[in-house]
Amino acid sequence: MLGALLVTAPAAHAADAPLRDLAAAKGKVMGTAVTGSKLTGTYGEIAAREFNALTPGNAMKWGSVEPTRGSFDWAEADRIVDFAEANGQQVRGHTLVWHSQNPGWLTNGTWTSAQLSQLMNDHIALEVGRYKGRLATWDVVNEPFNEDGTYRQTLWYNGLGADYIAQALTAARAADPAAKLYINDYNVEGVNAKSTALYNLVKSLKERGVPIDGVGLQAHLIVGQVPSTLQQNIQRFADLGVDVAITELDIRMQLPSDSAKLTQQAADYKAVVGACVAVARCVGVTVWGFTDSDSWIPDTFPGQGAATPYDENYAPKPAYEAIAQALGGSQSTEGCTATYSVTSQWSTGFTGQVRIACSGAALSSWKADWTYGAGQRITQAWNATCAQTGTAVSCSNASYNGTVPDGGSVTFGFNASWSGSNPVPVVTLG
Ligand code: G3I
Repeated sequence: MLGALLVTAPAAHAADAPLRDLAAAKGKVMGTAVTGSKLTGTYGEIAAREFNALTPGNAMKWGSVEPTRGSFDWAEADRIVDFAEANGQQVRGHTLVWHSQNPGWLTNGTWTSAQLSQLMNDHIALEVGRYKGRLATWDVVNEPFNEDGTYRQTLWYNGLGADYIAQALTAARAADPAAKLYINDYNVEGVNAKSTALYNLVKSLKERGVPIDGVGLQAHLIVGQVPSTLQQNIQRFADLGVDVAITELDIRMQLPSDSAKLTQQAADYKAVVGACVAVARCVGVTVWGFTDSDSWIPDTFPGQGAATPYDENYAPKPAYEAIAQALGGSQSTEGCTATYSVTSQWSTGFTGQVRIACSGAALSSWKADWTYGAGQRITQAWNATCAQTGTAVSCSNASYNGTVPDGGSVTFGFNASWSGSNPVPVVTLG
């Protein structure tokens, strides 16, 4: 290597604000699903510090609040709403009309259409009314569609027809006119048959004047499989005149986790949160549990897990950093270094490279900045996008090499002109 000019940059270090502050600065919600009984100790501290919205993971479902007909248990739901209010957090009510987690007396009963309609309307009036003025949002109808875009055959659909959805929304509006009313579903993140059915439903509800404020994209995803049409799909719902929320984000992997999977997961989290940030009517993102110790994945998909931004011991994973970055926070580059070297030099020009390497850390995107002290000018770069303004050079990753895994490295190169002398600059990594 010509000149043996090697400089290793001191690692830049940034202490990021909590996710809720980063999100608020962008006008977005950063939420988590929670279990009411766990809202103390470290779990409670993180839930309060990092999130500006809470969704009860189970506590507001019909089976939880009315296990026996006419006998109610609001303890966990109340606890979550009280906790949220004490900590300046919104609450997303979840969920009023669903085919799952209903009480046995309801699912095992035989009901006429009129009775079903009455049961549904009364349930909505009671539960929404109980929290009137205190909840920002309700997932009114949950998971109404099959994968092919046909209506799911449920207690509600079979008894009342597709219009149960309009009825439920109308009842919820009457019970709390201020709450934003959503339809929420999974596998509707990308453009596909199911999301198109949801799109057509929302369009027709809007045309009919049925109260509908938003669409929830659950986003129970698999590492490496963020739909490429996510942002486009968010945008098409926004263009219908409704809000969009990512309501149940988690990104699961085959266990055990390793640094490559966690790095990919971080990139995936960043892509999802970034897609929401990019669309004005995407109001925010809720993760379906913030810690791997409070996730539904291992029970439902044996052998899979590690789907949330914190591990079982409440240590933040690369996914946490990635969410912070997508919300505009700066990345901690501790554990990663940038090494600038001149690989060949001639009378008027030279070829240089910067190698970014990580050990005990990983990056999901990078930017390398330096200042030229002797009039050098970049003329061409590869494997990075470089811009020079005066003496300041800033190079950021190409679309294909933003990830620097733990124990790995990325190198980019450039040609530049020089005269007089060609001192080596100090590179700052960001
Ligand atoms: O509370 C009982 C406990 O007493 C008992 O000992 C234990 C034994 O299995 O079960 C506990 O109930 C479980 C409950 O979660 C609370 O942990 C249920 O078995 C279990 O089925 C239930 O799973 C929930 C699942 O919905 C049910 O479909 C998950 O926690 C919850 O995260 C999940 O959330 C759904 C959303 O509401 C809608 N979208 C999909 C998402 C993931 O399935």
